[in-house]
Amino acid sequence: MPHHLPDPIRRALEELAEGTPAAVLKKACAELSESYRSTQAHARKRHVSTREGRLAYGVSRAPATFGAICASLDALCEVAPDIAVASMTDLGSGPGTAVWAAAARFPALESATCVERDGGFIELGRELVAAVESRSLPSISWVQASLADLTIPPADLVVAAYSLGELPVDGAGDVVERAWKATRGALVIVEPGTTEGYSAIRRYRDRLISLGANVAAPCPHAGECPMAGADWCHFAARVDRSSLHRRIKGGELGYEDEKYSYIAVTREPVAPAPARILRHPRKPPKVVELEICTPAGLRRAHVGKGRSDAWHAARRVHWGDSWRY
Ligand SMILES: C[S@@+](CC[C@H](N)C(=O)[O-])C[C@H]1O[C@@H](n2cnc3c(N)ncnc32)[C@H](O)[C@@H]1O
Repeated sequence: MPHHLPDPIRRALEELAEGTPAAVLKKACAELSESYRSTQAHARKRHVSTREGRLAYGVSRAPATFGAICASLDALCEVAPDIAVASMTDLGSGPGTAVWAAAARFPALESATCVERDGGFIELGRELVAAVESRSLPSISWVQASLADLTIPPADLVVAAYSLGELPVDGAGDVVERAWKATRGALVIVEPGTTEGYSAIRRYRDRLISLGANVAAPCPHAGECPMAGADWCHFAARVDRSSLHRRIKGGELGYEDEKYSYIAVTREPVAPAPARILRHPRKPPKVVELEICTPAGLRRAHVGKGRSDAWHAARRVHWGDSWRY
């Protein structure tokens, strides 16, 4: 099912963007894409430094990062359905994307702290909150600070989405450790679904396990990651594209697939899914082929019509889903 920004936020973003000519947004969007594409420049780089750059991020990138965060939170909630989330901290929040996603998943979310070094993103986040129905979002405190030297505000849910990759490797590991200390319930880290993003997630996973965190998703175990060679663990979130998105980013399709890697850990022990689907299922006639990660390593499962429950489930599952048969 495609993810889409809550309508009030999408409308508010588009209204704010109306003050900027489409050609200017289009150029800012192209510059943003180019900045993210150049992987060498990724770490330690400020990708956005102008008002139009932040608006282009809001219109063209935030729907995709929102989709990836939603999918990661859904995987957490599947494994920890009773987790109580009344407060959250969003690290490297941009305009508050992870708060929008958490507000849609945790109706009891009352308060959020957004930590962001860029004052312009904080201003945009505040404008968006002012423009939407206040009941749809928790009360948000904005903290303009660098994650590099911050005492992270404790919360039930801590999220770092698409932000740690902008820190030096050592610095990011240190933030992960402080983020875990600040976590009362769950910590979710999301990065782009590139080999670089996955390697970072793998490092964070190892560090969190060494600190006693309980792996909730996507991994079905807390053993060594079995991914080897040139392969990398990543998933895809389908996200709707608005007409403004299509205008400034180009392309005709009404959706795009955002590739992401993530790790979700919890303070309390949980029973992770027995297996996770690592590729689009192949569905030739009379059989479904699933590539799955299991506690015993990577496996290929062939599900035929003879196994009725498994067969019906296998017809419906997608890349990234848990597999329980
Ligand atoms: C790609 S954006 C992600 C924004 C948002 N989390 C999302 O998923 O849409 C990365 C954000 O992290 C922020 N950031 C990067 N390094 C930071 C640091 N050291 N301290 C605080 N914020 C940082 C950037 O300013 C930017 O807003």
